[in-house]
Amino acid sequence: MKIRAAVLEEFGAPLVVQEIDLEGPRAGEVLVRLHACGVCHTDMYTASGVDPSGYAPTVLGHEGAGVVESVGDGVTSLAVGDHVVTLFSPQCRECVHCRSDKTNICLSIRDQQGNGYLPDGTTRLSRRRSGDGTSEPIRHFMGTSTFAEATVMPEIALAKINPEAPLDRACLFACGLSTGLGAAMNTARVEPGSFCVVFGAGMVGLGAVAGARLRGAERIVCVDLSEDRLELAKGQGATDTFLGGADAVERILEMTGGFGADYTFEATGSVKVMRQAVEAARMGWGLCTVTGVAGKGETLDVIPRWLITGRRIAGSSFGGVKGRDQVPQLVQRYLDGDIDVDAFLSHRISLDEVNRGFELMHAQDGIRSIIALA
Ligand SMILES: NC(=O)c1ccc[n+]([C@@H]2O[C@H](COP(=O)([O-])OP(=O)(O)OC[C@H]3O[C@@H](n4cnc5c(N)ncnc54)[C@H](O)[C@@H]3O)[C@@H](O)[C@H]2O)c1
Ligand SMILES: [Zn+2]
Ligand SMILES: [Zn+2]
Repeated sequence: MKIRAAVLEEFGAPLVVQEIDLEGPRAGEVLVRLHACGVCHTDMYTASGVDPSGYAPTVLGHEGAGVVESVGDGVTSLAVGDHVVTLFSPQCRECVHCRSDKTNICLSIRDQQGNGYLPDGTTRLSRRRSGDGTSEPIRHFMGTSTFAEATVMPEIALAKINPEAPLDRACLFACGLSTGLGAAMNTARVEPGSFCVVFGAGMVGLGAVAGARLRGAERIVCVDLSEDRLELAKGQGATDTFLGGADAVERILEMTGGFGADYTFEATGSVKVMRQAVEAARMGWGLCTVTGVAGKGETLDVIPRWLITGRRIAGSSFGGVKGRDQVPQLVQRYLDGDIDVDAFLSHRISLDEVNRGFELMHAQDGIRSIIALA
């Protein structure tokens, strides 16, 4: 079938929206008609060419939600008409990691996905070369390629959600929001009555604030460089906020009788802030959860004594969320009124305006731009 999609042709250049071919689903695959997709930093990062593992041409986008249009042979967990959220972090339920409750990092399709292919090593995306008319494959991005009217994805990378959830809200659970919620709820498992600090109030940090609240934290301090974003953090349950800077650790120590916080979260991508998050964690049992993606080659500088005296550091990919099991549960909590998702939806744009989505993100204008696809 023909679809319109935003193709990364050349690093550092705007995406080009064009008509391309999408082949139907093969065994174990599902064709999804996309309704909405969030624009995320990872898309912009790859488009910029800074990511050394990036490739082109590819269809970007990974925060998608839509409706199943057809299924390939052997697909049993999804049927035509099901509402789904796309998962760049799949869940095969069979690999050694999926069978462990210690991690959500599924091993089954990692290598092919990382290289831009579906699990069988081929692509469903292609286009006609203008010269000789032969078919040129276009690679899939993060196994999702959701800056498009439709996509083909492995069954194991789709979460079936309650169809009552509006898809332009549900798509936010495909990445940043679930990452933040999960960092607090799965990775840190914040205890009721605890003192939490969240560094960063973008999509991920605001999700962590909401997750800490849902776990019953008593104090949730949010630290960011933007007053507007700190206001949003209050809306998600932050009890205290202040502007970040060199004195952030000192201020947390003052608020905690000199000890530090039970749980700290880093959601900025800055290694300097990661260090602050470690040092703001309490002696004895403070846990620092790192979610930010640092620049290539950057390292986290930690004095070992901080660890010997009982602080711990955990990393969190997609918030430790096992996507097919837990994304539907998180979406349900939104429908139950526990999570205010509307506050994150800042701009609604068309597929043709995808590059404007990057500009808005670059200017830190709002939390998320959503591409309306249907
Ligand atoms: N672990 C994962 O699976 C995963 C998933 C999605 C995103 N991420 C990463 O998480 C990070 C946050 O993502 P986002 O979408 O929320 O980004 P964002 O850019 O919207 O938010 C980052 C926030 O950090 C704030 N900040 C910057 N410097 C600061 C400082 N010194 N003190 C306090 N706050 C500061 C900024 O003002 C901004 O509001 C990024 O690094 C992103 O790549 C990780
Ligand atoms: Zn993302
Ligand atoms: Zn697995």
